[in-house]
Amino acid sequence: MRDRALRAIAECKRIAAMSEEPGRIVRRFLTPPMRQVHALLRGRMEAMGMSAEVDAAGNLRGLWQPRNTGGKRLVLGSHIDTVPDAGAFDGVLGVALALEWVEVAQELGLPLSIEVIAFSEEEGVRFGVPFLGSRAVAGHFDSALLLLKDAEGISVEDAIRDFGLDPSRIGEAALHPDAAGFVEIHIEQGPVLEAEDLRIATVSAIAGQTRLSLAFKGHANHAGTTPMRLRRDALAAAAEWITAVESLAERSDGMVATVGKVRVEPNAGNVVPGFVQVSLDVRHSDDAARAAGVEEMLARAAGIAERRGIGLDRRDQLDQLAVPMDERLTALLGSAIEAAGFPLKTMASGAGHDAMVMAGKVPTAMLFLRSPGGISHHPAETVLEEDVEAALHVGREFLRRMASDVG
Ligand code: HGY
Ligand code: MN
Ligand code: MN
Repeated sequence: MRDRALRAIAECKRIAAMSEEPGRIVRRFLTPPMRQVHALLRGRMEAMGMSAEVDAAGNLRGLWQPRNTGGKRLVLGSHIDTVPDAGAFDGVLGVALALEWVEVAQELGLPLSIEVIAFSEEEGVRFGVPFLGSRAVAGHFDSALLLLKDAEGISVEDAIRDFGLDPSRIGEAALHPDAAGFVEIHIEQGPVLEAEDLRIATVSAIAGQTRLSLAFKGHANHAGTTPMRLRRDALAAAAEWITAVESLAERSDGMVATVGKVRVEPNAGNVVPGFVQVSLDVRHSDDAARAAGVEEMLARAAGIAERRGIGLDRRDQLDQLAVPMDERLTALLGSAIEAAGFPLKTMASGAGHDAMVMAGKVPTAMLFLRSPGGISHHPAETVLEEDVEAALHVGREFLRRMASDVG
């Protein structure tokens, strides 16, 4: 299994070089580097005797169907898009390890069909709304999503067509009715497993998340001649709000809130900012607490804007409920962890995953691997070879169980 672990890590590093920008990893929905990733993974899938195709939402779908199987299939996968200046393992490791799990099933001669999905878009970076790939597989890709535009004014529909795909066929991307379960293998992206010196864990539930953007609309003016009392400074208003968001989240147990993106216009040092657009990302395992926190943050924004004579516009992008993982499939994964000789740990996920979309369609479970330094969404994101090897031993035990479960 050590060779498999080394190969999976090498595959992630090879894919990391397939980026929109030299020198850092950024691979957004259906951008040109995605073609390189598809070519590499498709080559691997076909060499393993899998069929491979790209669906209308840009998901690469590989299928292994041994002759001695009755049809039910296990689905594995994760996403291959990234945030800007990403690490090499968020999402991609789940696909690389899924292919290794297929090879383990092949070597064991298990009567188990396995579909591997490399989801096209989970991060929501290019069009502001996440999970475009898994929404199509889960069968609820809202056609209004096709109208979303990126920073260059390209719509989702155009991006799909430019990639050589047909948006009118997105309905065909829906999950096959023979799917018996979905498992996503993913790095934890946080500090918990490292703090407890554990390699792997199952996931109990995935935190809910709110994503929206606020536009503070003030009045641009000369930085040298405009007295402070006559200003309608959009950036000063946004800054006051951002620190209010931080202190509200700090006071709310179990809540995290982030303003990660700021666009300032006209963005010149000698001009009072007239327009500022900011993102808001709020997570909590309790949906009511998250909703209350978001409402409080929005009320603060309205108060700040009114006092400063600033306009305020809001654009909602995501209101994703917290999602529990399937207990039975998670228990099967847990018994595989124990059979492989590792302590059993289950934990909640603060990060979002395609698993939270797939869970509405098929029994879903997740396997976490330790994140050294608790770092992710950063070039220093990494994994330990021995943890990847542990995930392969778990895979062997889990696939055996799954084969007899669906056999
Ligand atoms: O943002 C997230 O939670 C995930 O990494 N896409
Ligand atoms: Mn991510
Ligand atoms: Mn991810």
